[in-house]
Amino acid sequence: MYLSSASTEKLAPGTYPDDLLASFAPRLIAWQRVHGRHDLPWQNTRDPYRIWLSEIMLQQTQVSTVIPYYGRFLERFPTVGALAAAPIDDVMALWAGLGYYSRARNLYRCAQVVAEEHGGQFPSTVEGLAELPGIGRSTAAAIASFAFGARATILDGNVKRVLARVFGVEGFPGEKRVENAMWTLAESLVPGADASDADVSAYTQGLMDLGATLCTRGKPDCERCPFADDCVAKTTGRQRQLPAARPKKAVPTRRTWMLVLLDGDAVMLEKRPPTGIWGGLWSLPEAAGEAALAERALMFGATAKASPLAPLTHTFTHFKLDIEPRVVEFEHKGAALMANEGETVWVALREIDAYGVPAPVRKLLDSLRGSLI
Ligand code: ADE
Repeated sequence: MYLSSASTEKLAPGTYPDDLLASFAPRLIAWQRVHGRHDLPWQNTRDPYRIWLSEIMLQQTQVSTVIPYYGRFLERFPTVGALAAAPIDDVMALWAGLGYYSRARNLYRCAQVVAEEHGGQFPSTVEGLAELPGIGRSTAAAIASFAFGARATILDGNVKRVLARVFGVEGFPGEKRVENAMWTLAESLVPGADASDADVSAYTQGLMDLGATLCTRGKPDCERCPFADDCVAKTTGRQRQLPAARPKKAVPTRRTWMLVLLDGDAVMLEKRPPTGIWGGLWSLPEAAGEAALAERALMFGATAKASPLAPLTHTFTHFKLDIEPRVVEFEHKGAALMANEGETVWVALREIDAYGVPAPVRKLLDSLRGSLI
């Protein structure tokens, strides 16, 4: 049993149909033997070094990209000892182009730990493997099942998709609660003591193959799936809804007060700082509240009471901006002072076109102009 913080609980009886739970592994194994992949370069070996290397390379990279890299790596580093003894620069150079370079650094560290602390032999248990750099619970299970026949389950993105669809597991699999429930389900499906090591390998490979070749994200080929008759997603037409998508984050709302300082038909614009929202555009002076805005109006020499205009909301990618416009008019036309902070300009409302002004501010000034004419 894998002892980590992730769930190792038993599946509650009745959660899923017993016959589907019991028949899942034999059906998958039978399907894999006929329809699965059998000739990938890391198959047909029980050498943990070769299996480990392939699993690390395959973590975020597709099979067709990995194949030539895998061949070159094995040629240059035929054993874990050879890899551990190589200069890191040689390892990074051979990895170049595969991406996610922390994988290569962990790969190298892992080789050194195996060479120096384990006498050049990879541990044979999921727990032992998962202690090594770069090996998580699912990768440990893949290596342990392929190399040592361990009765352990993998659970990568493809397998989560298969389980969510076949068993109708609701919720976003990236959420801890859902992921734990999937580990529990996946553990309960692993072939039992009556299965041979070859069955265990075929089972693990079958999970990978089903997810990669039939139960794909965009266009699942349900007609050829061994679970089509039982699959919750297929039988309820919810292939696109399962697994559930990442919940959309609620966008935060910010609030700002904008000063519409009017001197006759002219409004005062202020240049925004060069970076950040509306960087370098001309906009209305802003403040973080009613009182702060009145203070800014006073600094510009306007003493009249502020009158509110209808608030408006502008939506950015990551947040919403609620704008509270306040108009302050000079009592005597021509009384405006030039501002002594920042870069400001007085512009006739009909000449706003000549300035780069943010869309919602532009809208606000256009409607103000309409109401003043
Ligand atoms: N993805 C991760 N491990 C794999 C494997 N052993 N074969 C094919 N695809 C994989």
